[in-house]
Amino acid sequence: MPQAYKIIDHAYDVVVIGAGGAGLRATLGMAAVELRTACITKVFPTRSHTVAAQGGISAALGNMGDGDNWKFHMYDTIKGSDWLGDQDAIEYMCRHAVPAVIELEHMGVPFSRTDEGTIYQRPFGGHTLDFGKTMAKRTCAAADKTGHAILHTLYQQSLKHKAEFFNECVALDLILDKDGLCRGVMAWNLEDGTLHRFAAHIVVMATGGYGRAYFSCTSAHTCTGDGNAMILRAGLPLQDMEFVQFHPTGLYGVGSLISEGARGEGGYLTNSEGERFMERYAPTVKDLASRDVVSRAITMEINAGRGVGPLKDHVELHIEHLDPSILHERLPGILDLARVFAGVDGTKAPIPVIPTVHYNMGGIPTNYHGEVLNPTQENPEQVVPGLMAIGETACVSVHGANRLGANSLLDLIVFGRAAALRAKELLAKEKSLPTLPAGAGDEIIAKFDALRHAKGSLKTAEIRFQLQQTMQTHCSVFRTQTHLEEGLQKTKEIAASYKDIHIFDQSLIWNSDLVEALELENLIQQSLVTIASALNRTESRGAHAREDFPERDDTQWLKHTVASLKGDNVSFAYRPVHLHTLTPEVDVVSPKKRVY
Ligand code: FUM
Repeated sequence: MPQAYKIIDHAYDVVVIGAGGAGLRATLGMAAVELRTACITKVFPTRSHTVAAQGGISAALGNMGDGDNWKFHMYDTIKGSDWLGDQDAIEYMCRHAVPAVIELEHMGVPFSRTDEGTIYQRPFGGHTLDFGKTMAKRTCAAADKTGHAILHTLYQQSLKHKAEFFNECVALDLILDKDGLCRGVMAWNLEDGTLHRFAAHIVVMATGGYGRAYFSCTSAHTCTGDGNAMILRAGLPLQDMEFVQFHPTGLYGVGSLISEGARGEGGYLTNSEGERFMERYAPTVKDLASRDVVSRAITMEINAGRGVGPLKDHVELHIEHLDPSILHERLPGILDLARVFAGVDGTKAPIPVIPTVHYNMGGIPTNYHGEVLNPTQENPEQVVPGLMAIGETACVSVHGANRLGANSLLDLIVFGRAAALRAKELLAKEKSLPTLPAGAGDEIIAKFDALRHAKGSLKTAEIRFQLQQTMQTHCSVFRTQTHLEEGLQKTKEIAASYKDIHIFDQSLIWNSDLVEALELENLIQQSLVTIASALNRTESRGAHAREDFPERDDTQWLKHTVASLKGDNVSFAYRPVHLHTLTPEVDVVSPKKRVY
């Protein structure tokens, strides 16, 4: 191991990597039951990407007098997932949604209110009553800043429970023992340049999605899926990585999110002919169909020459017909975004929008307790001891092939809480803190040191641009074999070019050049798996739309993709979809044609 590094050792019961909604909910839950808990986070907790979540968190509270019920929510989530979601996990999430949101309210989340003083709820795409009959008002909102409100409350609660934070610390890789089991994690503190070796009984990955593999996305620059890549490098697989969600309404030319809450409050989309085209694609729920349906519809309108603007390459979102006082009260954030970044006053004129990468349904396979699975084993439900994953980095799988809006904040909270409950059980008899053998993690530091001194000919930004362009072009809303094959070949060439990277800054304190190079390796590895999985799945389901295989094929493909990476080679196994429920209180929803 290179000598120059100062390494600080730590031991905890649990180390949570990531301080977004899932990471903080787990951290506070673990700390509250007196597990010795550390949370390592690349950015200061309240800067985590959950802060950008706008429209809300779903839970069938029925506050708007619509008679909502968690069983309707469960049905909608299964249908939204295009039947790739695990129905036991979906039942767990939807039935726990109601107490989980009430718990957030009691913790102090400043939700918007109804006249009666209860939590305000708005309609969101794909959320219905009576198994698809009419739209539900299920999305609990704090104006259009719900993620911000939740994240700040969870951080305050974590501090109250005396969780320890290692802020602005980049997790480098998992520390594995000789049997390949996770024993801890190595991290680099950007503030003072020190390296930290954490021993832990349980490591919880809460590292978010990898939207930044794409050129245009709603995700923060920090959304590089670091935990997914650490799992791949640990020799473990990722699940359903071909399913990348495009949010229908990214702000044109900018990418920032214009919340689905806008359509929930009565907004609608038009093409260059002024037509409300969603009436043709989803006659019942129209603009409030699920996201994959709306994103495909917009793309088809643009491809048919009915896009708006000089390049006919986007559509328009109208909210200008709504009462300005309601807009200022319920959607102040998107009015600001439209004004600042597109120069549009949303109370007076339509907002230009385009489908933009927003969410990764795929990730680290887990059960509904948050325990990581290794489905390449004989038993596809085999738990990997000492490892958990929650939030967008995990694939529980509650979202299957397509996530419903407002089910992401819910997933973070319900499974962050579930992981804490499980960790308490697992560690009930564990009195001592874990230890690591001498030299544990040395190879991680050697790799870090080699990258830090890399003197190739390519800048990180150059390689990243190639990667983002390739993913945007070859693995988009619609996909074909030829396009995906070309994209995979290009991604392999980009992976090879990473060996020729040049790091300009060798310092250890706030070296963003090196951080971005580490993140780029993570993005490349996930992109290889994503594009190879998309090529492998020869059907259309949810967000994965193959022009050459336009139908869903339940005979061949009602199964989860399980992808492993060795070098630049992706290999596949499969895991059965759970077509069973958690309790006899609800019936399995059998696959049928998905229409809205
Ligand atoms: O449109 C939105 O407000 C996004 C919500 C979500 O992705 O859940």
